[in-house]
Amino acid sequence: MKQKNQLLKTETLETQVLQELIDQAQAAYRQAYVPYSHYPVGAAALFASGVIYGGCNVENASYGLTVCAERNAIFQAVAHGERELKGIAIAVPTDVFPSPCGACRQVIREFAVDCPVILINGKGKTKVTRLKTLLPDAFGPEFMGDL
Ligand code: THU
Repeated sequence: MKQKNQLLKTETLETQVLQELIDQAQAAYRQAYVPYSHYPVGAAALFASGVIYGGCNVENASYGLTVCAERNAIFQAVAHGERELKGIAIAVPTDVFPSPCGACRQVIREFAVDCPVILINGKGKTKVTRLKTLLPDAFGPEFMGDL
């Protein structure tokens, strides 16, 4: 029974790790710098070392320079030497569930062929999907391996 309880809702993440991802993504959106959209987003990315990296969206008066929460979290991980993404949670304070933008889907793909993507709305409800669902038939770094 204990074994069963430890099984993952997401097929690859333990329940406790899943909860940590959710908590950290929710904590991350509280740091968002969003004076233009007023739409805070938080992300928490679990990498192969077991460390979870948080990130929020950071906007800019030159709007195009805005960085999404997902990329902020992933780039922080990469800057710490991580390369293998195991799962990512994305949280917002609104009722509507978040959805990673196309650019962020491709950045997730750079560090995971597939992984769970956990979406959290402002009511604390969660929806679990996967990168392969969000970005099917994706181009990735290994495509260039034979050059
Ligand atoms: N945003 C994210 O941080 N992640 C997403 O997945 C979607 C969009 C941010 C960018 C911008 O700061 C604000 O949300 C509105 O687009």
